[in-house]
Amino acid sequence: MNLILKPYSLNPADAGHPSTPVSFANLSMFQRFGAPFRAEVDLRDCEVEGEIPSDVNGAFYRVGPDYQYPPKCPDNIPFDGEGYVAMFRLSRGHADFKSRYVRTQRFKAQEAARRSLFGMYRNPYTDDPSVKTLSRGTANTHVVYHAGKLMALKEDSPPVLMDPNTLETLDDYYDFNGKLVSRTFTAHPKFDSETGEMIAFGYEAKGEATDDVAVFTVDRRGRVTWQAWIKVPYVGMLHDFAVTQKHIAFLVIPMATNVQQMKLGGVHFAWDSHLPTWLGVMRRGGDGKDIRWFKGPERCATHVMGAVSDGDRVQIDMDMALKNQFPFFPNAYGEPYDDRAAEGRITRLTVDLSKKSADTYGMETLYPIVGILPRQDDRYHTMPYRYGFMPTMDPARPFDERLAHVLTQPVNCWTRFDHATHTTSTFFAGPESTLQECCFVPRSKDAPEGDGYVVGIANRLIENRSDLVIVDTKRMEEGAVATVKLPFRIGAGIHGWWVSGEQLAAAG
Ligand SMILES: [Fe+2]
Repeated sequence: MNLILKPYSLNPADAGHPSTPVSFANLSMFQRFGAPFRAEVDLRDCEVEGEIPSDVNGAFYRVGPDYQYPPKCPDNIPFDGEGYVAMFRLSRGHADFKSRYVRTQRFKAQEAARRSLFGMYRNPYTDDPSVKTLSRGTANTHVVYHAGKLMALKEDSPPVLMDPNTLETLDDYYDFNGKLVSRTFTAHPKFDSETGEMIAFGYEAKGEATDDVAVFTVDRRGRVTWQAWIKVPYVGMLHDFAVTQKHIAFLVIPMATNVQQMKLGGVHFAWDSHLPTWLGVMRRGGDGKDIRWFKGPERCATHVMGAVSDGDRVQIDMDMALKNQFPFFPNAYGEPYDDRAAEGRITRLTVDLSKKSADTYGMETLYPIVGILPRQDDRYHTMPYRYGFMPTMDPARPFDERLAHVLTQPVNCWTRFDHATHTTSTFFAGPESTLQECCFVPRSKDAPEGDGYVVGIANRLIENRSDLVIVDTKRMEEGAVATVKLPFRIGAGIHGWWVSGEQLAAAG
């Protein structure tokens, strides 16, 4: 075993750093597994419990926020740490681990200054004047692979390119060779496995708090081939979207951009319970002028499990809650945060575009199971799909008001949803573990939908360690087929992505 723990690199030209020592003490946001890790690691041949299946060959990447320095504003939120990418390279039963911070523009500026220079979450009013011309992007939300490029993403800025093998940052502001018209780029692009295209969008695309959304397509060679502009009914979080073979759909939730709050030093968003939720549906490949907005009641939904168009009927499955699911984004009218109303369940939204007078969308809760961060077999992003996966709460454990939110509740299961039979099967990580998002790995390139493994991070609460867990989707209840054991904990993760060995070989 070869374990190298080293601090991230320091700029030798650095001068004039403040004399204040670096300390994360007394910051309640950094408790236990939420605490920054701050080390970059190369660990060849991790300890493995069980057997990594011989058909698993590729790399699992995951990214999350990890504070480089104590926050400039002590009331900042955990989501505003710098992007920290970890890679598990799995091949021939071996697992090699590598992790690196994404060298964003802000990371490099802060490294030189030896302190945080950017203020509150997505609030440029609170930044140090010296960083006014730099990108605020942390690249801490998702990491995906397309056209031979590994992209670390944050929805308020363009992608940051990384080398898929070394995790070296290659481009801290990738604008697709000048063709990206939006100033922002979603953390949830979709991939059309028939055409090889990536479909993406950017909101607040013409600058902070603008109501402009750019939608675009990047072909399999990485060239922007289509773009359109739309306007949203009000400016708010547009975290994910749905793409089918025919349509593109956006859900605008009452997580409204609040400039007044920003000017007072707060975060970018506040939950405005007086606002409706809007579902907008437009034709794929058009000019965007055909978008129709359908109105619904106050709801919170951030991630799409899958979506399909059947003629003019569009169906989108999301994890949906009654109210604000983000305890660190305040309610605009001072209402207390409601844990129960924040519980998310897979909900099917439907619209029928053939009904010209329709002005609302249908909602049906598909399963009673509470969870967060749904995924699917990523080869089926734009296709009719059958299987979904989601981290879920231990159903045997009663709801505990003291544990607050689903983000901090014991999410220690991964559940597979079979929409064809309306059945579920569940992997349980144990009462002393929590699970992060899971990512699907096909058993082979041409394996049937959902046939393979789900992988992701388990945090071992008693041991203060993290593992990579590999679960066979056909045998969820039987437990992990392999566990890659890390001799340390890694920080919070948000989303992850699988890249096959074949793709990595092609990337050189
Ligand atoms: Fe997300």
